[in-house]
Amino acid sequence: MSQTITAERTALVTGATGVIGSAIVRGLVADGIRTALIARNARHLERLEHSLDAPHLTLRLRADVAEPFDLLESRDAIRDRFGSDPDLLVVAAGILRTAPFRAAAPADWNAMIRTNLQGALHTVQTFTEGLVSAAASARPADLVLIGAAHARQRSQTYAVFSSLAAAIEQLSRHLRTELGPRGVRVHHLAPQFIESDSPSSRERAEPASSEPASSEPRVWDRRSPGPQRTAELVRFAISLPHRANLAEAVLRIGDG
Ligand SMILES: NC(=O)c1ccc[n+]([C@@H]2O[C@H](COP(=O)([O-])OP(=O)(O)OC[C@H]3O[C@@H](n4cnc5c(N)ncnc54)[C@H](OP(=O)(O)O)[C@@H]3O)[C@@H](O)[C@H]2O)c1
Repeated sequence: MSQTITAERTALVTGATGVIGSAIVRGLVADGIRTALIARNARHLERLEHSLDAPHLTLRLRADVAEPFDLLESRDAIRDRFGSDPDLLVVAAGILRTAPFRAAAPADWNAMIRTNLQGALHTVQTFTEGLVSAAASARPADLVLIGAAHARQRSQTYAVFSSLAAAIEQLSRHLRTELGPRGVRVHHLAPQFIESDSPSSRERAEPASSEPASSEPRVWDRRSPGPQRTAELVRFAISLPHRANLAEAVLRIGDG
């Protein structure tokens, strides 16, 4: 069923330094795919690129996905470096802030709305024409939106995060309707929460901290699928034959 992943592809991963983004990046680079990496923290980007040890395949781009100008500059930099727009876009930048709704800080809602929703919209719009033109040239073109299984669940502390995840899930369906006939495959992958210990996660837990990222291996809930599973799913989705699309997938913890 699957077809070989061609190293001729050009990928962009937002949220590249996150637990999920970095697992996806590692998989793509291991397949020899040229991969641009977007995040805001330059030090984390540098550390990730260094650990990948494939400077000929990677391009680190310090950008805020909620800033359309940053994205346009990133698109130009990718064209300069790789000679084309990405034909594989992975939208994995996101922020998680949890609290019971009645006690939540509106600033936290705004941060999630800004990155998880506005950032996703701007990212997709900035790079859609590149995906469409790849498909028009009979090349594979994939848009992967990393959502969250929370979109379909109820919880006492995830109300706003889950609502935004539901918006991304619905957005992916509309984009599939709009871009599918143009040959762009739209995949919505929704992982279950994994106890995240990325640098960004620590920052959101301790906003005043400027500690460097830890190099300690992360420990996942033993029932959790882990970021590696999401990365494997991306790999599976992009390796499917031309007319097959892994449209939606939810990765739940074992007994979820
Ligand atoms: N981890 C989970 O269990 C889980 C479960 C379900 C869904 N998700 C979703 O999956 C996505 C990734 O989660 P994760 O666990 O990998 O998160 P993470 O470890 O906290 O990483 C978040 C990534 O997004 C980047 N980022 C955040 N805001 C950004 C902005 N405005 N512009 C550019 N980059 C930005 C961060 O880098 P900078 O801070 O340097 O910008 C980092 O690279 C999110 O949308 C999350 O909601 C995660």
